[in-house]
Amino acid sequence: MLRSHTCGELRIDDANKEVTLCGWVQKVRDKGSVIWVDLRDRTGITQLIFEEGSTEEELLKSAARLGREYVIRAKGLVVERHSKNDKIPTGDIEIKVSSLDVLNASKTPPFTIEDDSDGGEDLRMKYRYLDIRRNTVRQKIELRHKMMRETRKYLDAHEFTEVETPVLIKSTPEGARDFVVPSRLNPGQFYALPQSPQTFKQLLMVAGLDRYFQIVKCFRDEDFRADRQPEFTQIDCEMSFVEREDILSTFEGLIHHLFREVRGIEIGEIERMSYEDAMRLYGSDKPDTRFDMKFTELNDLAQGKGFNVFDSAELVVGICAPGCADYSRKQLDALTDYVKRPQIGAKGLVYIKCNPDGTYKSSVDKFYSQDDLGEWANKLDAEPGDLLLILSGDKDHTRRALNELRLHMGNELGLRDKNSFKALWVLDFPLLEWDEETNRYHAMHHPFTSPRPEDRDKLFDNPGAVRANAYDLVINGMEAGGGSIRIHDRELQKEMFKLLGFTDDEAQEQFGFLMDAFEFGAPPHGGIAFGFDRLCALFGGSESIRDYIAFPKNNAGRDVMIDTPSVISEDQLKELGLGIRD
Ligand code: AMO
Repeated sequence: MLRSHTCGELRIDDANKEVTLCGWVQKVRDKGSVIWVDLRDRTGITQLIFEEGSTEEELLKSAARLGREYVIRAKGLVVERHSKNDKIPTGDIEIKVSSLDVLNASKTPPFTIEDDSDGGEDLRMKYRYLDIRRNTVRQKIELRHKMMRETRKYLDAHEFTEVETPVLIKSTPEGARDFVVPSRLNPGQFYALPQSPQTFKQLLMVAGLDRYFQIVKCFRDEDFRADRQPEFTQIDCEMSFVEREDILSTFEGLIHHLFREVRGIEIGEIERMSYEDAMRLYGSDKPDTRFDMKFTELNDLAQGKGFNVFDSAELVVGICAPGCADYSRKQLDALTDYVKRPQIGAKGLVYIKCNPDGTYKSSVDKFYSQDDLGEWANKLDAEPGDLLLILSGDKDHTRRALNELRLHMGNELGLRDKNSFKALWVLDFPLLEWDEETNRYHAMHHPFTSPRPEDRDKLFDNPGAVRANAYDLVINGMEAGGGSIRIHDRELQKEMFKLLGFTDDEAQEQFGFLMDAFEFGAPPHGGIAFGFDRLCALFGGSESIRDYIAFPKNNAGRDVMIDTPSVISEDQLKELGLGIRD
């Protein structure tokens, strides 16, 4: 070892020890007769001191030449500091340096390597290796490591076997576009990178592995969002001889284990809610249940009183914002503008102030009496001092818009604390979704999801009404994971492909390998996959997953550090049978 200690471990008890430290120069303070150097490694910072009189002149000169981010090795005596720094754990001591080696010089870094850096996002991405030197970024990568370690510990203790599945595969239909890789040995043919190991993990169940997991890279060519990356990581799991309940309880265990071991907290029981209730009560299949403000439908009370906007609406629905009756005109206008933004697209917003004196003031006073408004307030469980916010229109759209407004109010009222956690299972999703554009059904999860046993009969008469034996884990309004009990019967799988618009030949061509396997004793099985980057971001209290990935892509899907995607040579193209660029 080049060093005897790290930069974060020396304390006053170590005084008078001869030590050797290695690290990066964080800061040099040169007062002429005294030079202090803050030496940093991943464990912390230790102060070095070079003093005229007690330090040799040559050494003092070398210290004066040090620049930010130089890599050095310093040997010296641990001494008590005159002026202590109680902000850092090593703040009681400093090292009186007796010898100094510059292990490597450094150019001046393009941004400051401090918790609050002066570097913009793009610059920090380009020099990601410098960005990771900052505590705030490194800690996120370390959190990821802990999450990975604890995931493996839990799953190993529950008899799961980690198996690697191939990366060069044939496309799996998870709903996004595939990234493809040309095959040199098979000109004109392509591999696809897996959107998930879905079919392989099912084959491992047919293979009798019983319990599989893998912390695995998945690739999806999708549009960007804060919670998406084109290559991301799943905790992918599958179990044999199980029903839904077994999966829910096994993975509730994993989530509890992670919160306990990584964050040191108990998140309590994980609630369950049907997809239908989630949509009715929150207008979302991933509701943030850290706060209440559930939807209340008001069609029965609000319609038939001459207010045409409500009378002609499929749905009139509201939320109660506690304590907001004193919102000013300006605040209410801002809320109206918020819901009218094109991304949300509501036509307008109706409000009712439940005044502290028991009267009501609304934007629709012309049409509704105080008694009418009192009934609404009752139905919404409003107290004097609360504000009712009501939207109307077609059902899906209005629910979506009110969901956005609810989340916005949750933010405004400080009800979405990133250090409080609420997890929820959303169950019984519809198996199929009708797609107007292509005029056919799509699988809401994926085509291998089985219908709820009690809905199986409806598969041909009323496919849109069939519920899937599927579940999502939602934490703080984020989809953390999803899975299902699978189809393990060739005939049912064939029927499913037919419903999704595949001909028998197409189904056989694309998924014959799986359906054939089902004929060799496929056990009943099911599983789940968690978005690992998302879980890390959630545990770290952040909305963006990017910081939790060591080398992420930017919004345009580029790695700006290695500058890719990039063009390849004509020779390479030719070799791959991809023709010549013009
Ligand atoms: P699904 O498509 O729901 O299911 O993916 C599982 C989880 O992966 C995360 N996720 C993403 N995270 C970051 N960037 C992305 N682009 C991205 N896409 C998805 C989400 C999601 O809940 N094979 C099935 C699982 C199964 O049925 O067992 C699957 O992949 O957190």
